[in-house]
Amino acid sequence: SNPSLLILPGDGIGPEVMAEVRRIIDWYGAKRGLVFDVSEDLVGGCAYDAHGTPLHDDTMAKAQEVDAVLLGAVGGPKYDSLDFSLKPERGLLRLRKEMDLYANLRPAQCFDALADFSSLKTDVVAGLDIMIVRELTSGVYFGEPRGIFEEGNERVGINTQRYTESEIDRVARSAFELAMRRNRKLCSMEKANVMESGVLWREVVTEVGKDYPEVALTHMYADAGAMQLTRWPKQFDVIVTDNLFGDLLSDLAAMLTGSLGMLPSASLGAPMANGRPKALYEPVHGSAPDIAGQGKANPIACILSFAMALRYSFDQGAEADRLEKAVERVLADGLRTADLLGQEGVAPVTTAEMGSAILAALDAS
Ligand code: NAI
Ligand code: MG
Repeated sequence: SNPSLLILPGDGIGPEVMAEVRRIIDWYGAKRGLVFDVSEDLVGGCAYDAHGTPLHDDTMAKAQEVDAVLLGAVGGPKYDSLDFSLKPERGLLRLRKEMDLYANLRPAQCFDALADFSSLKTDVVAGLDIMIVRELTSGVYFGEPRGIFEEGNERVGINTQRYTESEIDRVARSAFELAMRRNRKLCSMEKANVMESGVLWREVVTEVGKDYPEVALTHMYADAGAMQLTRWPKQFDVIVTDNLFGDLLSDLAAMLTGSLGMLPSASLGAPMANGRPKALYEPVHGSAPDIAGQGKANPIACILSFAMALRYSFDQGAEADRLEKAVERVLADGLRTADLLGQEGVAPVTTAEMGSAILAALDAS
């Protein structure tokens, strides 16, 4: 049977960028014989409008069954006054939680044509291609005790950094598997010098590494890692780190390469019966209400998220390369959506024009 894909375009520019991905999916079916069973559903504000909840139970059930979920973006000012539990973001959080997506993959990749767009020197970022694996379901954002408590005559705010061996083990395995598919180089970041959870993290990652002798494993303190990421990011290939450090380091690494409109992500969970990991792919950006409905959105982040799905859920690494090359070609030809333009007098292309150009480049590949 065909691989299955659940598409959740969501709100704002989500449906606009997803429309371009749909054309690419159709292209793969027609031209490469790679046919997907695609179903589409609601998430976020539009799901609230239709069902009174940001994620219907039926949609949740569907997400658990398919080989991969591809999501656009959720949210918008229209929903800002909703109750916390009804907010569009809760739909996304429910997906991540119930699918138990513990490994968040955030690539930082620099297309040569955009190297001068970075705030860093061109030679520091040109050709950059690294991947940060952030643990997503545990750590200080979830650990107990947490809260604001009375202590003596003042209050104290408490969060707890907490990792079990199995939580570290499973995200480390995801990172080693990824390193095996890439350049067999993994750097683990924590602060074992001052944190107990860091000591355990380093111990468990080292232990898991014995199952992956081909991978060159190194360890770095996360603060030093932040410095090295801005000094010479090309020294890294795959980085694995916890939820808090990963939050900071992945945002930092992302901005090495430029626009939010370029950044894909994947969130992976445990292997399913077919051996593929549970998976949700989505652009890093949000619903961009300031440009929604104007044909200005850059579809590349969402298109590259689909490329990640081809690679990590569908074993189509060569086709993922083909799609990324098509994006690279179009950028090299000088096409730019508005977010990729500085002050120079180049006219921006629309969302659909960018999608069409990428399709044409695919056709020529
Ligand atoms: P945002 O990512 O939507 O927008 C930030 C800025 O980047 C805006 O100026 C926007 O126009 C621009 N931008 C974002 N994506 C772009 C693209 N593909 N092409 C061109 N320009 C792009 O973040 P913001 O403004 O903080 O949040 C807006 C809404 O999105 C809020 O409701 C927020 O809660 C939601 N959001 C949803 C996320 C998700 O669905 N995963 C993630 C982040 C925010
Ligand atoms: Mg963040």
